[in-house]
Parts: sequence; structure tokens; C-alpha cells
Amino acid sequence: MSIAYLNGIYLPLAEARISPLDRGFLFGDGVYEVIPCHLGRMVGFSLHIERLRSGLNALNIQLGWNTGEWREVCEQLLTRNPGDHLSIYLQVSRGTAQSRGHAYPADIEPTCFGFTMEIAPPPLPDPALAVTYSAITAPDLRWKRCHIKSTSLLGNVMHFNEGLPGGNTETILYNCAGELTEASACNVYVIKNGALATPPLSEQILAGVTRTLLLRILEKDGAIAFAERPVTLEELRGADEVWLTSSTKELAPVTEVDSEPVGNGQVGEVWQRAQGLFSQHRHEHG
Ligand code: PDD
Repeated sequence: MSIAYLNGIYLPLAEARISPLDRGFLFGDGVYEVIPCHLGRMVGFSLHIERLRSGLNALNIQLGWNTGEWREVCEQLLTRNPGDHLSIYLQVSRGTAQSRGHAYPADIEPTCFGFTMEIAPPPLPDPALAVTYSAITAPDLRWKRCHIKSTSLLGNVMHFNEGLPGGNTETILYNCAGELTEASACNVYVIKNGALATPPLSEQILAGVTRTLLLRILEKDGAIAFAERPVTLEELRGADEVWLTSSTKELAPVTEVDSEPVGNGQVGEVWQRAQGLFSQHRHEHG
């Protein structure tokens, strides 16, 4: 039975209880993180905690935890839930109020929750073993604060589910200017003639920790040129390779977009090289 953390207590996940008046439940009033952990080592821990803290600040949720306190909870969860490949899910909601009302209540204690989930081992940089993705495209209909990793994920969930009936595993989103934002649960990249481009950070996308790590690793290595710049739908359609990144997938090759093959429809060489670099350096930059 998996062991969860809830407001200072470790207990079996099935026994964890929160009130229906918790604002996370009523309003999606909270933030979360998903931290991957392979063979006992977390990936990007400090970056995840930094982003959690900036989300809490953006929502004006007062929780004075320092990085050491977060680390302690994560390490306790890892000790109590053995496994080679896990993600640690952390969620902080504003807390439970006396009644339902839109105004942020004064004197409310945030609800802090954590548990672990098994995830796949990270990809090996071998095209023959790669898990490939097929995506559809759709206009981005979420809200205008996508840089906050909020638990209000209905917009993302609806987009994710749009592609599933057709056998697609992600939905790549674009804004009114026909520029890519991200995918419903991943950041997005296009590769053309060996060079990589990914949409710049803005309020339209989440600053993915995997994105930050990848760009730091590529910058240090220097072999693959990259740019953070607007990327159009046309570029997506003409790309040699398309990738997604997230904490649980690392670099995920997309071989089909809107039922058309990406490039030659095979996993690309640039992916192989970049995933190889990521596998070597994932613990060094965050
Ligand atoms: N999703 N963009 C969105 C909308 C996301 O939900 C995610 C992550 C990312 C990638 O962020 P990171 O590299 O920090 O995981 C980008 C997580 C894993 C989820 O909600 O399960």
C-alpha cells in the first residue's frame, strides 16, 4: 500500500482524507509539482521547488516551508515507497474554509499533500526502443496564466482527451497567431535541418523543468543549435522531428501529427543525440 504525506502525517494513501470544503476541491485553488526519481535520485529537485514556491507566491498562498522541509518530505516518501522509477506528486491547496466563497479566507492553513506513483524508466537513447507519440493539433483554449502550475487543470485535461478517441497520445496547442504554445501536459519542440526551436517562456506556457534542464544541457554541450522563439504551425508541419518533454517522459519523439508522418515518420537522429546527452547529465543542472 502506498504511503502518502498529508499535513504533517505519513499514512496509507487509501486512508488520507481532506474536507469537501478544501479550496483545492471546490476551486482548484492550489499548485502542484511532479518530481521524477530514478534509482533513488530526484531529477531537477531545486527547480521543482523553486517553481512550486513561485506558484504559491502568485496565488498568495502563505506557506513558509524552506527547501530543506520539502526535501525531507520527498525523502521520507521515497523511503516509505520503495521503487526504481517513481514520481513524487506534491500538492498545496489554500486549505479548508468554513464555507464556500470566492474571497481568499484569512487565517487558513494550506493543505499539503504528497504521494508517489510508479513511472516508466527514462528513455534510452535508442530509436528502436523509443516510445513514440502521435499528436493532434488544436487551438489553445486554456486560460491566460498557464505559467502557474495550478491544480485547475480542466482546460489541459479537456485538450488531452480530445485526441484519445483517435488513438493520439497528446494534443499540441497553438494560439490565435498560429504559434505553438505547448502540449496539454508537455512542452513542445520542432527540429529542422538539425536545429531545435521551442516556444519562448511566457504566460502562455509552463516553464517545464525538463525544458530548463534540456536547454542547459544543450547549451553546455554546444553540438545542437537551439532557439527559444515563436514556432508556427507551418513549422510544426514541415519539421524533420517533433519532440515533447515532461518530467515523466523526458524527451518524447512525436512521429505523427494530425495523422501525417513527422519527417520520414521515424524517430530522428537529433532526438537520439539529445536524449543521450540528457541521460548523461540529467542530475547536473538542477
Ligand atoms: N506535466 N506543460 C504542461 C502543461 C505540463 O502539465 C507539464 C508537466 C509540462 C512539462 O513540465 P515538467 O518538465 O516540469 O514536467 C509542460 C506534469 C508532468 C503533469 O501534470 O503530470
